[in-house]
Amino acid sequence: MSGGPRLQAPRGTFDVLPGGSPARLSFFNLCQDRLGGAGLGYAETPIFEDTELFARGVGEATDIVQKEMFTLEDRAGRSLTLRPEGTAGVCRAYVEHGMHKLPQPVRLWYWGPFFRHEAPQAGRYRQFTQIGAEALGSDDPAVDAELILLLAELLEEAGVRQLRLRLSSLGTAAARRDYADELRAHLRAREEELSSEVRSRIEANPLRAFDAAHAGTRAVLADAPKLLDRLAPEDAEHFAEVRALLDDAGLGYEVDPSLVRGLDYYTRTVFEFTSDALGAQSGVGGGGRYDGLVEQLGGPPTPAVGWAAGVERILLAAAGEPQRGASPTVFVAWENSRRAAFAVARRLRESGVTVQMEQAGRSLKGQLKHADRLRARFAVVAGEDDLELRDLRTGQARAIASVEEILEVVEAS
Ligand code: HAM
Repeated sequence: MSGGPRLQAPRGTFDVLPGGSPARLSFFNLCQDRLGGAGLGYAETPIFEDTELFARGVGEATDIVQKEMFTLEDRAGRSLTLRPEGTAGVCRAYVEHGMHKLPQPVRLWYWGPFFRHEAPQAGRYRQFTQIGAEALGSDDPAVDAELILLLAELLEEAGVRQLRLRLSSLGTAAARRDYADELRAHLRAREEELSSEVRSRIEANPLRAFDAAHAGTRAVLADAPKLLDRLAPEDAEHFAEVRALLDDAGLGYEVDPSLVRGLDYYTRTVFEFTSDALGAQSGVGGGGRYDGLVEQLGGPPTPAVGWAAGVERILLAAAGEPQRGASPTVFVAWENSRRAAFAVARRLRESGVTVQMEQAGRSLKGQLKHADRLRARFAVVAGEDDLELRDLRTGQARAIASVEEILEVVEAS
């Protein structure tokens, strides 16, 4: 009997299923090892926050706030938004929990679901997963360089192919405001050559013109003034130090003065990793400094820097052999004595052995075939009062007296 039309996940969301999850879990473990090993603490912030946090934090004029947020009203009439990114929430938590009183910088990492109402395509989803890292409370260029190197190592170790790093500096908010005026004048002078979208944004956000693929717009920008040439001396020095540290570490990058990021909070360093192995959605991770954001959200003046990377894009760009789930070391088979089999499986697991037991009503022959398919190393046939151990590599079977004896054989194998 049908229960009505078949249900599907909402457009742009996806299910993570056992067939595809091993690579994802091993990437999570890699992140935990490398970021935890570098002394970053793991953090979780709520999946929805007050809409105002993102409007103020990410910026009213950004695409994210104008077009891409999933916003809802709760029963009390408050406006809430499913988080489109993690930095604003981390800053809110930093202020709310008085983390400026802790030894600085506070360095943390996070992993979780994020939401943007974008047109779904390969590598672009409405629910996606980010791995992110933030360091709050230091303006030392070494923090920028350390975080960039950590992301580079993670992406390389995850096997992301054809990786490129672009780097720039946006200076201070004041330098950017002056530069925006200069760029506006340049764009207005050649307005008829620009795309209609860029034209409509000259007033609110002229820097986003650098993101345009439109040929006419690109020609106008080719001889536009560059923000990198307008940096205040201390910002230029900060950028030179970040670059020197990356050079010392042997990390290749390209300085790209047209690199603007889609979020308004950036100051000084910005960077983006792309993979040419991906199609149009080639950005695997990016970030930068946001020295004014904590203060803007009601905290003390706090320089900070961080990045986030898209887990699904990383796995697409790494696309190695599809990995199988881990094989059990022991498969426990049984005919009449499920309770005995259950007890053996439990005792083996308590001793740290990976175990699966028969749960589908197969014949003994079918069970042993299944154990082979799972690539188990041994099978135990559990009877009421007896145990048989089969080495599935050699095919040899022998009676065995106790679970301890099984453990000895497993350990020796
Ligand atoms: P973002 O560049 O907007 O930065 O996002 C970071 C990464 O998330 C992107 O490089 C991409 O891999 C992934 N991503 C973004 N949107 C989607 C999507 N719709 N589907 C799949 N993957 C996506 C931020 O979010 C900043 N909070 C980064 C940051 C942290 N800056 C400082 N600290």
